Amino acid sequence: MARSLRGLFSTVAALLVGLVAYGADAQSGNFTTFADFLAAYNGTDLTIFTAALNKTGLTNTIASIGGTVFIPTDAAFASFATSLGLANATALLDLSQDVVAALLKFHVTPRKVDMTTPFFFLGLNLTDAATASEMFSELKTLYTPAGSEKTVYLNVTTNITDWKASTVKSVRAAASLVGNVTVPFTAVGNATVAVISQVMAWWYSSIADAISDNSRLDLLALSLKNNGMWSGLYDEKLSRTLFAPADGAVQSVQTDLTIDMRANSTVAKDMLNYMQAYGINTSANFSADTRANYTYTSIFANQTLTAAQTGANNVSVISKGTVARLAYGTIQVGGPTPRSLIHILSYPVVPTVTNIWTLIKDDPNFSVLVGLFVREGKELERLQGRVVDGQTSVNPQAYTLMAPSNAAFAKFANTYNTVVSNITNLIGASSLGFFLRNHIIVGSYNTNNLTAGVQLTTAGLSSKKVGVTTSGSSIVLEGAKSTATLVAPFNTEVAYGWAYVQVIDFPLVPEEVILPTPGSAGAALPSVVVLLAGLVAALVVMI
Ligand SMILES: *[C@@H]1O[C@H](CO)[C@@H](O)[C@H](O)[C@H]1NC(C)=O
Ligand SMILES: *[C@@H]1O[C@H](CO)[C@@H](O)[C@H](O)[C@H]1NC(C)=O
Ligand SMILES: *[C@@H]1O[C@H](CO)[C@@H](O)[C@H](O)[C@H]1NC(C)=O
Ligand SMILES: *[C@@H]1O[C@H](CO)[C@@H](O)[C@H](O)[C@H]1NC(C)=O
Ligand SMILES: *[C@@H]1O[C@H](CO)[C@@H](O)[C@H](O)[C@H]1NC(C)=O
Ligand SMILES: *[C@@H]1O[C@H](CO)[C@@H](O)[C@H](O)[C@H]1NC(C)=O
Ligand SMILES: *[C@@H]1O[C@H](CO)[C@@H](O)[C@H](O)[C@H]1NC(C)=O
Ligand SMILES: *[C@@H]1O[C@H](CO)[C@@H](O)[C@H](O)[C@H]1NC(C)=O
Ligand SMILES: *[C@@H]1O[C@H](CO)[C@@H](O)[C@H](O)[C@H]1NC(C)=O
Ligand SMILES: *[C@@H]1O[C@H](CO)[C@@H](O)[C@H](O)[C@H]1NC(C)=O
Ligand SMILES: *[C@@H]1O[C@H](CO)[C@@H](O)[C@H](O)[C@H]1NC(C)=O
Ligand SMILES: *[C@@H]1O[C@H](CO)[C@@H](O)[C@H](O)[C@H]1NC(C)=O
Repeated sequence: MARSLRGLFSTVAALLVGLVAYGADAQSGNFTTFADFLAAYNGTDLTIFTAALNKTGLTNTIASIGGTVFIPTDAAFASFATSLGLANATALLDLSQDVVAALLKFHVTPRKVDMTTPFFFLGLNLTDAATASEMFSELKTLYTPAGSEKTVYLNVTTNITDWKASTVKSVRAAASLVGNVTVPFTAVGNATVAVISQVMAWWYSSIADAISDNSRLDLLALSLKNNGMWSGLYDEKLSRTLFAPADGAVQSVQTDLTIDMRANSTVAKDMLNYMQAYGINTSANFSADTRANYTYTSIFANQTLTAAQTGANNVSVISKGTVARLAYGTIQVGGPTPRSLIHILSYPVVPTVTNIWTLIKDDPNFSVLVGLFVREGKELERLQGRVVDGQTSVNPQAYTLMAPSNAAFAKFANTYNTVVSNITNLIGASSLGFFLRNHIIVGSYNTNNLTAGVQLTTAGLSSKKVGVTTSGSSIVLEGAKSTATLVAPFNTEVAYGWAYVQVIDFPLVPEEVILPTPGSAGAALPSVVVLLAGLVAALVVMI
């Protein structure tokens, strides 16, 4: 400890000596206008920057900026253009004025930098070894990606003994100060300028870089790593749209649906693939105040995802299982035309149905049951996913629906000498809620969990017990007034087995439902059809 502190102090002493040496050696070069600076600059390598200023109308603005402008050389623009797949640096100038302006703004920080800036930054607390070892100053740039709360920074590290060894770093590149200028930081009007060897740009070079650098996406990064999907996202050629769940979203889907995206599992991989769509939609501009729907093809089985935009930054992403809100903005990967976009969502997209109602509502085998739920109008809410404020609010209660098929209702009706169209009368409209609730079991039960002796609990305040017995390989449920046997298809999953639908061959009748004696005609009010059928039968007998 003592040794490292002594080391630190000698470093500080060296820095101070260097600072004095620097101050003594530096030539001064203060200019009133950018044109004055250019005229004095000993070289011809700032033509692209100059032309970019001209194109964007910023030429006369430079000298009035009370901050620092980092000027990339022509060679820097040339290598940048090549990295984008453009023919040469002049092709950069053909991009839209906004794109060029944004690119320039990223090279401007509102703070005046000189060789001592990082030194004084360190000077805040030199006894803290961690701070002292960093040797940089993090500078906010003028540019902030649209819709993002994240501020973009340049890290400037100066080397006082050898100023050409100083660096300026962005997420894209590490540049050095170009030795062609007489002094590294030159006053131009109210601004300070420094020529640098690389274009900083404002986007990330890969999806993995972008995710790593965003503190809202730590759990997503972990999930991708745990599932062996991380290294592939460093591929700079990858063109994807990511509907990326923020950390809170990764936690919510575990709380709500017991889906752990962090686990190394098939389910997690499905989730992590589903959130990725091929390419980007260049016509979508989520910051614009427009209404539009955009569709995306997920790399997960080419399923469709839809982004429904209803205003500026007002976007819902509709997946098979959820509606998620675009929150916290969009991160650009590659540029100036983005190669990938990461939209940060406050709930994950889910590639499977997340509620029982979606599964049964259009199934022709359950049309009678569905009809009863619709008629009753209240109990079906337990089975539906809810959308509040444009976003799915998953009902956190997992149920198993013991669903009588249409055949089960036919058998039920027949037992009481009536027909399916008369089922509501048979049950009694006022008992319909009790009847339906008796089929909604709290908890998720697949056939492995439905073993003899298990007591199931039905939904609602006045919940009932339903006993499980077995008969051979069959699973039998015992309601208060009827028994039912599970029939195929078994174990229809909601959200990977968070909830289930099981099919039964007869309804589970609770004690609240008053039924006529089985087989006794007329106990339930017969429908017109039944009356007519009876008349026809009587006529046949008479003839
Ligand atoms: C250049 O500007 C700096 C800071 O404004 C000032 O201290 C210095 O005297 C100026 N040098 C000349 C030659 O004007
Ligand atoms: C300009 O650069 C040349 C070398 O290319 C050098 O000889 C000359 O002294 C420089 N002039 C100034 C004013 O720095
Ligand atoms: C300054 O840059 C120009 C290229 O624009 C180069 O020809 C010249 O040699 C450089 N001068 C010094 C001193 O580095
Ligand atoms: C800016 O470009 C225009 C042509 O578009 C040209 O007339 C003008 O001289 C340029 N100005 C500078 C400072 O390069
Ligand atoms: C520099 O700043 C001063 C004070 O804010 C202002 O009066 C002056 O016009 C500025 N100079 C330029 C070139 O913008
Ligand atoms: C840059 O590339 C464009 C398109 O390929 C070409 O027309 C132009 O001549 C090139 N300019 C230079 C300076 O090489
Ligand atoms: C400076 O850093 C040291 C070591 O981390 C710490 O003990 C001390 O409280 C710090 N001082 C201030 C003013 O933050
Ligand atoms: C500063 O530059 C000198 C000379 O290039 C080098 O020896 C030294 O390691 C550099 N210091 C830091 C902290 O990078
Ligand atoms: C700047 O430095 C901080 C602290 O070391 C680091 O977290 C950040 O990633 C750096 N940013 C860049 C662009 O290098
Ligand atoms: C995930 O689990 C499989 C075995 O189930 C294992 O082979 C693989 O290495 C694991 N991947 C990671 C990234 O841990
Ligand atoms: C987007 O899709 C929804 C649901 O299909 C529809 O109601 C809405 O009108 C569509 N909006 C636009 C702008 O097409
Ligand atoms: C999925 O979509 C991609 C890109 O549109 C296409 O290349 C691929 O053939 C499709 N795969 C299937 C199974 O349809």
